Amino acid sequence: MQPPHHLGLEHLSTAVLVLDRNFRVRYANPAAENLFEFSSKSVAGTPVNQVFVETGGLVAATESAFASGASYTEHEMTLATAANTYQVSLTVSPLFDVEPLLLLEFYQIDKHLKIAREERMQLQQQYNRELLRNLAHEIKNPLGGIRGAAQLLEHELPKPALREYTQVIIKEADRLQSLMDRLLAPSRMTKLAPVNVHEVLERVRSLILAEHWAGLAIRRDYDTSLPELMADHEQLIQIVLNIVRNAVQAMQGQGEITLRTRIARHVTLVKKSHRMALELKIIDNGPGIPEAIREQIFYPLVTSKEDGTGLGLTIAQTYVAHHGGSIDCDSLSGRTCFTVLLPYNHLNLH
Ligand SMILES: Nc1ncnc2c1ncn2[C@@H]1O[C@H](COP(=O)(O)OP(=O)(O)OP(=O)(O)O)[C@@H](O)[C@H]1O
Ligand SMILES: [Mg+2]
Repeated sequence: MQPPHHLGLEHLSTAVLVLDRNFRVRYANPAAENLFEFSSKSVAGTPVNQVFVETGGLVAATESAFASGASYTEHEMTLATAANTYQVSLTVSPLFDVEPLLLLEFYQIDKHLKIAREERMQLQQQYNRELLRNLAHEIKNPLGGIRGAAQLLEHELPKPALREYTQVIIKEADRLQSLMDRLLAPSRMTKLAPVNVHEVLERVRSLILAEHWAGLAIRRDYDTSLPELMADHEQLIQIVLNIVRNAVQAMQGQGEITLRTRIARHVTLVKKSHRMALELKIIDNGPGIPEAIREQIFYPLVTSKEDGTGLGLTIAQTYVAHHGGSIDCDSLSGRTCFTVLLPYNHLNLH
């Protein structure tokens, strides 16, 4: 694939795509091939909204630059290819000198900025969890008293029909009690033993499939050469189960989930660098996380479901933290991806 020579794009360190008037890729420079991990050849002729999972922002930017003949910049957008998700800013410039072309320049948003933001969030979440745990403790005690008193009262009631009311008190107290128990649950000690991650994934897969979702496919994309991980078997199952169950619920059982394992090398997690980590991606093709709560899904009690408690991801995140790892999410309509990184050499656990 020949680049438009007069532009001299081959040597630019900025990732550049050139589109023709039909928004098909004419050319990707080496920096773009590097960034997005595709070859110029493989994307040539492909409409740009098929190269990337559609975000709205990309197509809107190209169309408005083309229509107006002026450059257009989108400052922070999420783009996904089949392999990965990227935070970029994008400038689209029309080039109408020889033939109508569009020049797309992608700048990856500084990783350090993202890390700093993540660290702040992690700290904030630690405070929140602490606060919540204390609150849960405080609620549990009087709750026992309320329930006990309602039971005593029930025995003294002159009319059995009045028991309807004491039963409401008892049932609601029980419901609150079990919510508080879930809030307090993640404090269990982490027990480490060698774990085969694929065995964990298979277990979750069969647990979910046993629920007989018609129209649900759970695809495996395993790197079978992965070594065993020192981890807490039960917690690992819970992490994966909570994420997968959310995906199934979001898709209402209709769609595809991919479980993908890889080795990640030289990763920094919680300020420590690790030579090797397990990278687990759980990808679904459901509707995506509702925009209004996208930034808060790991916070406790954040839910979009009528009967949800909003604790599934909080618990998953707590368990991942026990292993010195990280959990992250990228979500667009049609592709939601949770990435869990767990280091292989994490020794000083709580
Ligand atoms: N794969 C997904 N696709 C779309 N939305 C998701 C996905 N995963 C999570 N979410 C959103 O994140 C919210 C929080 O998830 P979380 O598991 O913490 O709580 P929940 O599922 O609502 O309740 P619980 O898990 O406690 O029963 C969900 O209510 C949902 O809106
Ligand atoms: Mg959930």
